[in-house]
Amino acid sequence: MELLQRSRRLRGSEVLRRMVRETRADASSLIYPMFVVEGSNVKEEISSMPGQYRWSLDRFPEKLEELAEAGVSSYMLFGIPAVKDEVASGAYAEDGIVQRAVRLAKERYPELYCITDVCLCEYTSHGHCGMLKGQEVDNDPSVELLARTALSHAQAGADMVAPSDMMDGRVLAIREALDGADFTTVPIMAYSVKYASGFYGPFREAADSAPAFGDRRAYQMDVHNRREAIKKALQDIDQGADIVMVKPAMSFLDLVREVHDVVDVPVAAYSVSGEYAMVKAAAAQGWIDEERIVGEMASSAFRAGAHIYLTYYAELVAKLIDEGVVG
Ligand code: PBG
Repeated sequence: MELLQRSRRLRGSEVLRRMVRETRADASSLIYPMFVVEGSNVKEEISSMPGQYRWSLDRFPEKLEELAEAGVSSYMLFGIPAVKDEVASGAYAEDGIVQRAVRLAKERYPELYCITDVCLCEYTSHGHCGMLKGQEVDNDPSVELLARTALSHAQAGADMVAPSDMMDGRVLAIREALDGADFTTVPIMAYSVKYASGFYGPFREAADSAPAFGDRRAYQMDVHNRREAIKKALQDIDQGADIVMVKPAMSFLDLVREVHDVVDVPVAAYSVSGEYAMVKAAAAQGWIDEERIVGEMASSAFRAGAHIYLTYYAELVAKLIDEGVVG
């Protein structure tokens, strides 16, 4: 055959494939999400997320040590308080679970970058992400508490805050609260494009945060929407977001690309609990090759335009990057 273009010519060896690779990753892009809980000597496996644990503060440094050894230098904290109430008191308490975890982590592992998830759902007795007025989540009073929560995280020493609640106006309120207390250098990574997704199921078990009634569709985004994603990302940047996130990752890679193309800030993609659980479940059955799938998911997020990738598989992805399987 007379063919001037033979695509296979550049696929002939590993050296060549890596030479012409279009997407390159670095472990510094990875953020590991993790759960801290009250109590002592707790390392409790989350049943729907095998290999992921709830850590009490006395054991939490073990995980930080593992991350440091694996070359994962950033993590994001979720807190599970002992007591939940209507006004999410534990979210902004000075001695709340996350606030104490941050203080401990920054004392023991100051070189690891500490990000806190800012939301109320783990702290409210009803499991919604804000304050209730009747059966509705009341936006503006919720925003006040979210800003208070973010500020308390910064006061504890958090390097970055990440609001995941999806209330309107929360990024601006958080920026003002931080700046008002001289935390002008603490960045905000906004969960700007966060869909009302079935993929958060295992997380809600992990954080014991499933809403007691209804669902989150009145504040998280409708999965059918695309233009709204762009609007939300731009709006949050206008309000002071330093990084915008698209979540979940795998089922919204089109939005990772679209957001990437219109914004001038870094874009994060969050491979959520349901993605992790699906891979674990299928791998446990021997139906898929876990490492290959995890590598492919990570590569697809980076290829779609993510600069930052949040994943419960952060340590494995770091290893795959090191081996050249990813990036
Ligand atoms: C809190 C929050 C959730 C997740 C991140 N922050 C749960 C939710 O919105 O219901 C999901 C993360 C995951 O599924 O891994 N609002």
